[in-house]
Amino acid sequence: MEDIRSAPKNSIFLLHACAHNPTGVDPTPQQWDQISEVIKERGHFPFFDMAYQGFASGDINRDAYAVRKFVSDGHRIALSQSFAKNMGMYGERVGAFSLITESAKEKAAVDSQLKLVIRPMFSNPPINGARIVSYVLSDSELHKEWLGEVKTMADRIKLMRDKLKHHLVEDFESKLPWNHITDQIGMFCFTGLKPEQVNN
Ligand SMILES: Cc1ncc(COP(=O)(O)O)c(C=O)c1O
Repeated sequence: MEDIRSAPKNSIFLLHACAHNPTGVDPTPQQWDQISEVIKERGHFPFFDMAYQGFASGDINRDAYAVRKFVSDGHRIALSQSFAKNMGMYGERVGAFSLITESAKEKAAVDSQLKLVIRPMFSNPPINGARIVSYVLSDSELHKEWLGEVKTMADRIKLMRDKLKHHLVEDFESKLPWNHITDQIGMFCFTGLKPEQVNN
């Protein structure tokens, strides 16, 4: 919060929407509310990087809290989303880039600038993965199945965290506090273990 307050006005802030990589430490909804307020006060520009929607809580809507809160607070955010993980579409370049603009005029200007950026980089994005995703999301049964699979992934991540903590506390009788392992969320975990301890 201190950094956000002391940064020059109109700075760009890159925020991880959920399941922060690499720490696994996310702000609480209340903390997001405060972050949104200060970013607004300072006229900063929030840029969300969202690559793990659903992997934090198991619920894609809960994991979208920060993005939706910022939008409802009136921020004109940028959002880059990857569906590589939560759709199991690694290597297919499935994602989306969204920008909220103030008016149709600004939209047209932003659109042409984005095309200038995209043209020399990849010109046309691959379409195969996007078609598969569209197929799944357009079918109510498949959509439901996918939401269930996202939850299965999130539950498995939580189970692994519980097991790791259990091993450290019960099997290795460590007296250190390991709550951070289960307090953190998502695929990443800052364990605090040293390489020798991992090898043992
Ligand atoms: C926060 C975050 N954003 C983006 C990416 C990359 O996504 P993609 O593989 O779709 O480029 C990753 C990890 O791979 C990530 O951790």
